[in-house]
Amino acid sequence: MKICFATSECVPFVKTGGLADVAGALPRELAKLGCKVKLFLPLYRAVDASQHGILPAPELANIPVQMADRTVLFNGWYGKLPDSKVEAHFIECPQYFERDAIYTDKPDEDERFILFQHAVIHILQRYNWAPDVVHCNDWQTGLIPALLKYNYGWDTLFKNTATLMTIHNIGYQGRFPATSLLKAGLPAEQFYPGSPLELDGDLCFLKAGITLADKINTVSEQYAEEIQTPAYGAGLESILASRRHDLTGILNGVDTQVWSPESDGLIPYPYSASKLANKKKNKQALLRRAGLPFNSEKAVLGMVTRLVGQKGVALLQPIIRELMQLPLQMVVLGSGDKKLERFLRRTAQGFPDSFSATIGYDNQLSHLITAGSDMFVMPSQYEPCGLNQMYSLAYGAVPIVRRTGGLADTVKDYHEYYQAGNGFSFNDFSANALLFTIRRALDIFKSKRTWREIQHRGMVENYSWLASAKKYKASYRATRKSKSDVAI
Ligand code: ADP
Ligand code: GLC
Repeated sequence: MKICFATSECVPFVKTGGLADVAGALPRELAKLGCKVKLFLPLYRAVDASQHGILPAPELANIPVQMADRTVLFNGWYGKLPDSKVEAHFIECPQYFERDAIYTDKPDEDERFILFQHAVIHILQRYNWAPDVVHCNDWQTGLIPALLKYNYGWDTLFKNTATLMTIHNIGYQGRFPATSLLKAGLPAEQFYPGSPLELDGDLCFLKAGITLADKINTVSEQYAEEIQTPAYGAGLESILASRRHDLTGILNGVDTQVWSPESDGLIPYPYSASKLANKKKNKQALLRRAGLPFNSEKAVLGMVTRLVGQKGVALLQPIIRELMQLPLQMVVLGSGDKKLERFLRRTAQGFPDSFSATIGYDNQLSHLITAGSDMFVMPSQYEPCGLNQMYSLAYGAVPIVRRTGGLADTVKDYHEYYQAGNGFSFNDFSANALLFTIRRALDIFKSKRTWREIQHRGMVENYSWLASAKKYKASYRATRKSKSDVAI
């Protein structure tokens, strides 16, 4: 099966969040299952071409794309996803991608990803390579089904090509003024109130993907249900509900080449479920790095997160004083919202022995926090899948999470009577519910034996990418089939 995997970020080339982890792991597993995968990604400034052996493809130089009344040229570059047979294709277009950040709020944000999506299709044409499925990920690739239908429908190369739209986060929809339609070259007659391309007068990339892709999925079963409701659907709930027979949830996996406490090169002391002694040494190393004193009676609570509303970091604010009275220390790594950054910095100044905040993006520290923490906190307002709780389960950092989306599907609340569960969870998105749950976890933490059992249950969970990749492969088949059913 031939798969075109289009994404706006991918490990190890460029990452801001979990989508990059998915794009770096899923195509590799798919290739192991016999799929031929071509991966497509913009060549941002952040991508180090020479480090990754990415070279210009001479046959893909200066390809024109019409952008309203202008012509924009792009170049194709070519590399490999490491340790795999996956071809990685990069779209070079300095005017759009030579920027400090990979996502911007500049007025030409729409153009950047319009160019990218046309470029993906142009390269497929140049290679005369007809994918069975174009796998689109999030709004940055959400227009591809529309482009294939309206702009490239004439090209018989794509007559059997189906599309799968994966929603990694419905909070980001790619909504732009109606004038974007012209830039994309989409037909004006397809833009009217309630049409697949339109949302409240805007062109909405994600809505277009959800409406026009042959199949849709999201990254956990729970989130697939949630987004069909007004509380979680961010305005797209009715459209999703109307396509519920084409919508599935496939949980992300853990890339064990990157996230395994036994073999993690980014932590000082490797350990495993049966040899937990080294975890304590990692805790000491983490506290040293964070500048906090070690106290074996205190639990270390880790957090690694983008600082955005979704992640619930603001819930710490009203309860921070009470938290700091408890036998715990917190080590937080994150960046994003300036107010939250200030709050974290101030808390670290106010509680220098109990609270450490690192503002920024630091891959190595994220591994050390996961290895060195006793507990890992994710009080998300919503969480499509969430990877950090799966990493923390594997590393014996018992997760404390809000019961939503992928967090609900992976973290099973500790049950005293049945001696079951791998973490702690709460329902209400409230500071008090979080405080109560942290207190509950600290209570259990005192009983070392029970704690080790909870840790152990988490560490032996198997969230392998292989299992998820098999589900994606089955979903590609269903996607292909639904396309040919329609064609017939
Ligand atoms: P999301 O994609 O919504 O940010 P996920 O839990 O799916 O949430 O994935 C987040 C990924 O980004 C994880 O691999 C996490 O370790 C990483 N990450 C987030 N913030 C940082 C940071 N400040 N420094 C290093 N890694 C981070
Ligand atoms: C999004 C979601 C996160 C998910 C990731 C990868 O960024 O917020 O929950 O794990 O995508 O699918």
